[in-house]
Amino acid sequence: MRKVVIAGNWKMYKTVSESVDTVLALKPLVANANHCEVIIAPVFTALKTVADRIEGSNIRIAGQDCSTEVEEGAHTGEVAAFMLKDAGASHVIIGHSERRQFYSETDLMVKKKCQAALTAGLTAIVCVGESLEQRDQGIAENVVSGQLNGGLSGLTASDLDRIIVAYEPVWAIGTGRTATPEQAQEMHAFIRRVFAERHSSGAAEALRILYGGSVKPDNIAGLMSQGDIDGALVGGASLKADSFAQIVNYRS
Ligand code: PGA
Repeated sequence: MRKVVIAGNWKMYKTVSESVDTVLALKPLVANANHCEVIIAPVFTALKTVADRIEGSNIRIAGQDCSTEVEEGAHTGEVAAFMLKDAGASHVIIGHSERRQFYSETDLMVKKKCQAALTAGLTAIVCVGESLEQRDQGIAENVVSGQLNGGLSGLTASDLDRIIVAYEPVWAIGTGRTATPEQAQEMHAFIRRVFAERHSSGAAEALRILYGGSVKPDNIAGLMSQGDIDGALVGGASLKADSFAQIVNYRS
């Protein structure tokens, strides 16, 4: 059985004190969510404080990005994966479409970041997804398989245990326009097939694939009813403790 993952991506929102307030409000609301892993990705500056304040709870912390560099060094502005781990993170989001789109992140960079994350002992949440133009051109699957092959090449079987894929169609992020559960399911099943061909059917079966893009309390249950959707990466609706808790507790 694949354990469900519900991850909140706070993007570039919230000061340290706002982050702490939100996570402390969230903590009791998700304390009984044993059916899933609950993850929050605050901004770098809040990560350590948030991690300290939720120690011992069932909330895990993710970085929103990490450096391609494994070792410390002269890389102004970068944060190494091992530093995220040191600050209390267990996960890191890699290759988010906003980074690909606005910060020119390539599949090669995604690959290096994944390797840095795995070396540091973090679990990588690797984002893939097509633009609206690519979907309209009928090349969504080619785009996603290209991102998977480029970003996740060179991984060993044991590395795969610490990879989570997030399918986030760019046209659904922050737009209020969610993929239908059927559209999402179709791509998730495709991603699993790509993994089966590239790695093994066992690895594909075990892979957690999250959906992301305008996930809200009122659409999570429909998405989660699909066989290949193993959780969600939530942006806007994760910024408020109560709406994120409703998503986490979608079954109750
Ligand atoms: P959204 O963002 O839920 O606000 O669409 C999702 C994401 O970017 O991870």
